[in-house]
Amino acid sequence: MKIAVLPGDGIGTEIVAEAVKVLNVLGLKFEMEQALVGGAAYEAHGHPLPDSTLKLAKEADAVLFGAVGDWKYDKLDRPLRPEQAILGLRKNLGLFANFRPAICYEQLVGASSLKPELIAGLDILIIRELTGDIYFGQPRGRRVATDGHFPGAEEAFDTMRYSKPEIERIAHVAFQAARKRSKKVTSVDKANVLETFQFWKDVVTEVHAQYPDVELQHMYVDNAAMQLVKAPKAFDVVVTGNMFGDILSDEASMLTGSIGMLPSASLNTKNQGLYEPSHGSAPDIAGKGVANPLATILSAAMMLRFSLNQPDAADRIEAAVKKVLTQGLRTPDIYSEGTTRVGTREMGEAVVKALG
Ligand code: IPM
Ligand code: MG
Repeated sequence: MKIAVLPGDGIGTEIVAEAVKVLNVLGLKFEMEQALVGGAAYEAHGHPLPDSTLKLAKEADAVLFGAVGDWKYDKLDRPLRPEQAILGLRKNLGLFANFRPAICYEQLVGASSLKPELIAGLDILIIRELTGDIYFGQPRGRRVATDGHFPGAEEAFDTMRYSKPEIERIAHVAFQAARKRSKKVTSVDKANVLETFQFWKDVVTEVHAQYPDVELQHMYVDNAAMQLVKAPKAFDVVVTGNMFGDILSDEASMLTGSIGMLPSASLNTKNQGLYEPSHGSAPDIAGKGVANPLATILSAAMMLRFSLNQPDAADRIEAAVKKVLTQGLRTPDIYSEGTTRVGTREMGEAVVKALG
C-alpha cells in the first residue's frame, strides 16, 4: 500500500504529522513518501505542483493531503498560486467524486452554533462533483466586452459547463452511496435559472430510473442552503456540482460544530483517492500547535476504507476519535466549558493512545 503524503502549507504540516502517527501504529505495512505541494513547493521548486509531486501522487494508491494556500501568494499569477496544486491533482488524477460527510458527534452537539435538537444525530453525506463545472470550464479569462451592459469595458468571464457522462457518473455514485444508507438523494441545482443545471436535473432524473429503490428529490441551491440550517436532518445524501458543493459543504461543516472535524475523500474511477480535511490551511493559526487534527485523522480512516481496503483499521480510528471526544479532549475550535483544552499534538497522541 503506497501512500503519497502531501502536507502542504499552513496547518497542513501539523495536522498531517498527527495523521501519520496514527497510521503508523495500526500494525499495517505502508510505504509512505512525502513531497512538497502548494506554497511550500512554490518556494522550493517555483511551482505549486511540481512534476515530481504529481508523479508520486499518480503512482500511489492514495494521497494523504493537508492543505494549501496563504494570503502571501494572492498576488502571484493564477497558475502559480497554491490552490492550483489541489485543482491540478484533482484534474490529473481524475478525482471526480468528492465525499464530504457531515456527522455531528454526540459529544460535540454543544459546539455547533445551531440548537442541539436540530443537529443531534446528524449524519449527511455531500457528494460533490469535483472535476467539472465553472471550476474547470473553458473558455475563461479577461477581455474587453463587445456587448452586455458596458460594451468597451474590461470584463472577466468563466464558463459553467457539464457534459452528460460527467453528470451520469456522479449521479451513479450518489445513488449507489444512498443504497448503503437511507436510500434518499437530494440533487441540488439551479435549474430555474441556469441551462447547465436544468441539464444536470434532467440527467440525474434519467439515471434515477435505474434506481427505483432510491428516493430522489430535487432542490434549488438557494433553498438547499436555507434548509441545511433549518432542518439539516431532513437530508441524507446530497449530490451537486463542483461550485455548489464547495459552498454547501462549508455550510454543512458548521452543523457539526467545527470545520476541523470534517474529513473528505476524492475518488477516481479506479478507486484511487485523495484524502484531505475539508478545511483550509488556516495561516492565521499555523505554527501555533492549536489546529484540530481530527479531520485529517478521519480522512486517513476514509483512505483505509475506500482506497486501501482496510475497513477494520478505519473503524478502529473512528472509534478512537470518539473515545478522545468522550474523554473530553478538545482543540480550541471545539472547546466548550467543562472540557479539556488540548493542542494539535496532544490530540493526535490521545488518538494514538486510544487505539490501544
Ligand atoms: C475545497 C477548497 C478548494 C475548492 C480550494 C482550496 C481550491 O475550498 O476543497 O473546498 O474550492 O475546491
Ligand atoms: Mg471549499
